Amino acid sequence: MLASGSGTNLQALLATPEVRPHIALVVSDNPDAPALARARSHDVAVATVRWADHGGREPFSEALADAVESVGAKGVVLAGFMRILGPGFIDRFHGRILNVHPSLLPAFPGAHAVEHALEHGVKVTGVTVHFVDDKVDNGPIVAQAPVLVRPGDDVQTLHGRIQAEEHRIYPEIVRAFVEGRLEVAERRVVMR
Ligand code: GAR
Repeated sequence: MLASGSGTNLQALLATPEVRPHIALVVSDNPDAPALARARSHDVAVATVRWADHGGREPFSEALADAVESVGAKGVVLAGFMRILGPGFIDRFHGRILNVHPSLLPAFPGAHAVEHALEHGVKVTGVTVHFVDDKVDNGPIVAQAPVLVRPGDDVQTLHGRIQAEEHRIYPEIVRAFVEGRLEVAERRVVMR
């Protein structure tokens, strides 16, 4: 699992009995990420790969991939990981990286999806779980859940309801992934 921030999605995964035993390592780019404390409290191994310790996106991506491979992980789950991964990572785990994103992709890719949804005045936004490919927030979609925007919503209130949906659907999808029931070929996703 890769996580940069508060780690509420990671928490939902740690609390899923069918998923927890498959979590070999949690890696963060941020040594102070609350996500790391959540992992430690569940006796899951943690590692930090700092952006500033590497000379740019490729060396950083290679170092992350080395950390993931060091525990023999076969798949990667991004849980609020806020760095763009370079080919040095994606090529090594192609078709084996899942991400959760707080919008209905392809609307509002990037790091400010909730703000952008509010700025555009959309009435429905939501959550997307997708495989990661070489473009940002672009890979094959596995699942989506809609969230209605309410009058008076701000980033915090809307993101809160989006996260509730993330915590509901991501564990289900990750469970299928770790149980070998989720596959992708080209843009075709099959979940058994
Ligand atoms: C989640 O809402 C996730 O969708 C978002 O960051 C949040 C992390 O929360 N990810 C992105 O915006 C990726 N582009 P968490 O650390 O509490 O799981």
